[in-house]
Amino acid sequence: MKIVRHTSVAFLLVCASCASTASDATPTTSTAAPSTSSSTTAESSTSTSATPGRAASDPQGTDGAGQGLDDPYYPELGNIGIDVSRYDLQLTVETAEVDSLIGVATIDFLPRESLESFSLDLVGLTVDSVELEGVAIPFDQTDTKLNIRPPGSLGAYIESQIVVEYSGEPKPIESGTTIGTIGWFDAPNATVTVGEPAGSRTWFPVNDHPSDKATYRIQLDVPEGLIGVANGVRTAARTLNGRSLSVWEMDDPMSSYLTTIAIGDFDLLEGDSAGEVPIRNAVAAPVSSVFDGDFNLTDEMLVTYEELFGPYPFDEYGALVVDANFSFALETQGRSLFSTSFVDGDGSIERIVAHELAHQWFGNHVSPGTWRDIWLNEAFASYAEDLWLEFGKGESLDALEARLIDRASLFPTPAPGDPGADDLFAPSVYRRGALTLHALRVEVGDEAFFQILRDWLGTYGGSVATTADFIALAEATSGQDLREFFDSWLGDGPLPELSNR
Ligand code: TRP
Ligand code: ZN
Repeated sequence: MKIVRHTSVAFLLVCASCASTASDATPTTSTAAPSTSSSTTAESSTSTSATPGRAASDPQGTDGAGQGLDDPYYPELGNIGIDVSRYDLQLTVETAEVDSLIGVATIDFLPRESLESFSLDLVGLTVDSVELEGVAIPFDQTDTKLNIRPPGSLGAYIESQIVVEYSGEPKPIESGTTIGTIGWFDAPNATVTVGEPAGSRTWFPVNDHPSDKATYRIQLDVPEGLIGVANGVRTAARTLNGRSLSVWEMDDPMSSYLTTIAIGDFDLLEGDSAGEVPIRNAVAAPVSSVFDGDFNLTDEMLVTYEELFGPYPFDEYGALVVDANFSFALETQGRSLFSTSFVDGDGSIERIVAHELAHQWFGNHVSPGTWRDIWLNEAFASYAEDLWLEFGKGESLDALEARLIDRASLFPTPAPGDPGADDLFAPSVYRRGALTLHALRVEVGDEAFFQILRDWLGTYGGSVATTADFIALAEATSGQDLREFFDSWLGDGPLPELSNR
């Protein structure tokens, strides 16, 4: 945020034609590590066999630096060689004039094979050092990658830890989809990060693909008078020497696109708990007096969804309302992100409030295995809006069905099951996708349908899954052959007819 500068940042400008991924090709910085050689191979340094995490007997390993996870839409994202289990992020942020960030990221991971090198995604920030088990090691940076080259290869499946010190002025990046710019936003009165699909790499070094879930501890050190907010439960907070420090913990596995931090003038509002689940909202001060008018149904929605889907998957829930002017909400894990432009207390965003809450089950607890599986997020959260109206508000199934058909008919393409990278968030993914789920319900009957949803969450909760996994599970639970059903509904042909209820 800027307290001084008065130009406002344009949020989420539509940029349908942007390249879908940044290129790894151009090295921008080539920072030598503080010790050892600046460029090394596993063979050149094999005298470190005593260090944990190194395979002395296998100095050769895969040169994994820059090798992405081959996502069908974003092949460069992430890294093939590593499986991160935990990020501990210590972030010091200055907000005068332009934001600046000093970060220390402690990353616990397993090499998935013997590795000569590996990489993390990082855009627009400068790495100052990388340590492996306390020893400085060589690294270099490209536009989008931090390449790490330990002297001596990392042994497969040996728990390893690196500490990355980095700094700079974080900036947003183009998402390459119609939702426009993502990442770090420096708004006039607040700072916020927006991850989906791959914006978290603008503020920490990360294996930035949904398939690699990890737990997080995020420590925010911001100027006194402001409050830092992140995912999960706030476990510590203090103000000292002109700084306001807070610690946030997400102990359930989280995909990187679901992380967020926000810095601003927030009121922390305790809502009515939903059964056992505490609701803790962080609301931008300018709208905190009207907040309730838009969010007061959250506890009822949560209880309704627990009855339909099973237990709420995280320790607490809440809304994070940031003083900014972007036109989408985002289901950041455990605390969904909204902008003040949505919040005036008139109750008109009820569907959106329900949508982001439903994502906590569909998208956050079970996350997409690849970005092509995006309908597993958006169609389910969209259909859950209607389920709230049906089961929470008593709306008739006929009314709901007629509206689902109308909405899908307006945007039948691209194919919700494969919308393409540029069109990841196309209306068809939401609308034809939602109608697909309703059609499935009509096809297999209510009992099997809700059993499918609960089995889905029970089987893949805490992890990721694909469209093929969903089809297989729906077939197993219903005992029906649904291959053709899903092919036609998730394709881009004319909308199929619903079978008779
Ligand atoms: N997942 C969001 C939703 O609830 C849409 C979205 C995708 C988004 N990327 C975003 C919103 C970035 C804000 C910023 O439908
Ligand atoms: Zn959504």
